[in-house]
Amino acid sequence: MTQKVAVLGTGKIGEALLSGMIRGGWTPADLLVTARRKERAEELRSRHGVTPVTNAEAAKTADTLILTVKPQDMGTLLDELAPHVPTDRLIISGAAGIPTSFFEARLAAGTPVVRVMTNTPALVDEAMSVISAGSHATEAHLAHTEEIFGAVGKTLRVPETQQDACTALSGSGPAYFFYLVEAMTDAGILLGLPRDKAHELIVQSAIGAAVMLRDSGEHPVKLRENVTSPAGTTINAIRELEKHGVRAALIAALEAARDRSRELASGNN
Ligand SMILES: NC(=O)c1ccc[n+]([C@@H]2O[C@H](COP(=O)([O-])OP(=O)(O)OC[C@H]3O[C@@H](n4cnc5c(N)ncnc54)[C@H](OP(=O)(O)O)[C@@H]3O)[C@@H](O)[C@H]2O)c1
Repeated sequence: MTQKVAVLGTGKIGEALLSGMIRGGWTPADLLVTARRKERAEELRSRHGVTPVTNAEAAKTADTLILTVKPQDMGTLLDELAPHVPTDRLIISGAAGIPTSFFEARLAAGTPVVRVMTNTPALVDEAMSVISAGSHATEAHLAHTEEIFGAVGKTLRVPETQQDACTALSGSGPAYFFYLVEAMTDAGILLGLPRDKAHELIVQSAIGAAVMLRDSGEHPVKLRENVTSPAGTTINAIRELEKHGVRAALIAALEAARDRSRELASGNN
């Protein structure tokens, strides 16, 4: 049976998902999109060959509705959708911080809802998407969500109680690496390198380290020890990192991100 999927509120994340699905073998004819602006809808049609529809039409026609509007727009979108969504539709929310209970309270009783927290590397098919079931979502609904988000990277199932922690780790995670690259590039400039060369050295080192972390199967401590020779350069740098409390700063930073995610989830915008 052909499954029609609609992406509602197709902005940056929605379009990344859509293009990943098409590259992954989904047929554009089975994909519907909605947008707030007509020119955006036409842009999506011409770029991807998908069909723009209204939110109400998407709710009536598609088997799976993926909601990718900003969290503050979700209430309005649900008000618009609620009268049109039959209870056999799967609702997937890609919005940060909004619990599945928010959707369940606004849709007909028994509607299956799955919550996903992805991250911006979805734009290059290297996302980390964390998936949690709402009260009425079954194994089949989770598997279908994994199939969709698997088109743009890795997926992991977690209980919804862990979503705020995951938002702090992988949702915001890419930003911490961008920040580190920026700081290390500044250090390169201090050491006398031109900015473009410093940037290239650090970015390639980051890519190399990331691939080793992913593919070697080694613990990060072992990988670091391998480049930390006695009385060498790396241990001098590590001593400074420890002296300046970088490890403690990272732990505190992620705790602060987790706390903010909790606040947002409880409606404190
Ligand atoms: N970007 C990230 O880093 C990231 C990472 C993980 C998760 N997320 C989550 O992904 C979601 C989308 O983020 P984004 O960065 O892709 O935002 P975005 O680019 O602003 O995309 C949202 C789109 O939804 C449209 N929209 C709003 N209300 C609508 C409605 N009632 N009907 C149809 N379309 C509507 C907006 O239209 P306009 O163009 O007119 O505003 C916009 O194009 C958010 O909930 C966010 O929490 C984002």
